[in-house]
Amino acid sequence: MNDSSAVSSAGDFKEPKTWRVQHLAQSKAAGRKLTMLTAYDALTAAILDKAGVDILLVGDSYGNVMLGFGSTLPVSLADMVRATAAVASVAKRPLVVADLPFGSYESSPAKAFDSVAQLMKAGANMVKLEGAGPRLEAVRLLTSSGIPVCAHLGFTPQSENSLGGPRMQGRGEGRERLLADALALQGAGASLLVLEMVPADVAREVTEQLTIPTIGIGAGPDTSGQVLVWSDMAGMTEWTPRFVRRFAELGQALQEAASEYCDAVRDGSFPALENYHER
Ligand code: KIV
Repeated sequence: MNDSSAVSSAGDFKEPKTWRVQHLAQSKAAGRKLTMLTAYDALTAAILDKAGVDILLVGDSYGNVMLGFGSTLPVSLADMVRATAAVASVAKRPLVVADLPFGSYESSPAKAFDSVAQLMKAGANMVKLEGAGPRLEAVRLLTSSGIPVCAHLGFTPQSENSLGGPRMQGRGEGRERLLADALALQGAGASLLVLEMVPADVAREVTEQLTIPTIGIGAGPDTSGQVLVWSDMAGMTEWTPRFVRRFAELGQALQEAASEYCDAVRDGSFPALENYHER
């Protein structure tokens, strides 16, 4: 066992120095919850790494959060490659998972592979794609080519137009379909499954049925781990969805700091003597 790996048996999980794909299932087997946050840039990724986050997701929520788009659909592969390179350049401990953006993988497994190659060259350790069914072939090709895959079921934002907006999925008849899709993705080789906006009892059942870990967002407490968009978690915006807890109010703190800076420049108290040299 090398020094980046570290488990002796279920229930005895030694924290890895560097997260790798095998640690995900080991963590689930040991009953240890996985932590995932999004990251889109080096500055934030370095802070989240120091905080002990296990997995950094370079999500295509980059479009909504950082680029001001109304959805993830306009995000390009070039956007994701740049963001992945920035996050991977500083991430020492966490596993870096990069989202395949809309339009970069759906038309064929070969197209998916070509897009994934760019994300892996940028430093991703794993890629994430949305859906099952027609995506299974791509998952098989990627995983058999040595590329770890994270799947994403439930509310899948790239399909928001056909799903009718951000709505709970997996209710009623959808429950059996979601379970079947999850098993099919695991069978195709996926190593991790994000469940977004799924009833808690459905997420629990999927988690119990799978050997691979599940990561929930708006899916209750019984998944193998949780993911949030970092800016929601840190309270950067005025509104957050109900399934988010705001662990800080960084947006307000940043606004106050910027406002104090403006006041200090205008009243001449910045820069002060300690901030400059006469010669
Ligand atoms: O892009 C993203 O942030 C995501 C999470 C919501 C899971 O896919």
